Amino acid sequence: MTSTQAEIDQSYSVSNEFFQLWLDENMHYTSAAWDDPSWTLEQAQEHKARILYDFAELGEDKTVLDIGCGWGSAIDCMVRFGIKEAHGITLSTEQLRFCEERGLPADRAKFWLQDYALFNPPQKYDGLVSIEMIDHLCSPAQARQGLAVGLYRDYFNKLAEWVEPGAAFGFQAILRNRVPRARKDLEDLAFTADIIFPGGLNPRIEELVVAISPKWEL
Ligand SMILES: C[S@@+](CC[C@H](N)C(=O)[O-])C[C@H]1O[C@@H](n2cnc3c(N)ncnc32)[C@H](O)[C@@H]1O
Repeated sequence: MTSTQAEIDQSYSVSNEFFQLWLDENMHYTSAAWDDPSWTLEQAQEHKARILYDFAELGEDKTVLDIGCGWGSAIDCMVRFGIKEAHGITLSTEQLRFCEERGLPADRAKFWLQDYALFNPPQKYDGLVSIEMIDHLCSPAQARQGLAVGLYRDYFNKLAEWVEPGAAFGFQAILRNRVPRARKDLEDLAFTADIIFPGGLNPRIEELVVAISPKWEL
């Protein structure tokens, strides 16, 4: 089970104009990476995309799938960094529209409105990228039932079938921990969980380390 199409649309399909008000120009939704505090958000996002491109060991002659590609920002970067072919899947109807309207070269960038769990890849990939999509794989209710590791393992196992042997995976996640929280923090978190990201939950590092085995290594 992942977040449903309706839950994803609640999180990401409000309107592209709304997200354009507060994301960087290239529409990265997720955390950037600053090596230098003087960098702009745009520079730090470009740097984040480059880190993941390098983690996935990509290059001019490589193919890549971005699972949960958002508004297509990482694929836009990878096309500029050098890639043979980059594919992206998202569950948000508005994100897909935005990706398609980017006007990236059709022979090098392709996007689908597709639940990863039902995706039938047209080819094996040389590398994978997924940036903060894993938050949508296990709901708070499922985590309370002890299902998180199994759901994450299904994801990592499936992805392993889509790649060439030895492929690398540029993976980014926000992790959750168990720090004691004040009532106000809990109220804010409940708002985020119920209204902004229904069905979503950040994973714990222990869950991921267990779930990637046996198909991937850290
Ligand atoms: C937090 S956003 C990150 C978007 C993008 N990776 C970025 O960094 O800007 C999570 C993304 O995961 C996608 N997603 C969530 N569940 C999915 C699923 N089951 N299959 C495919 N995409 C999914 C959403 O549609 C959204 O694009």
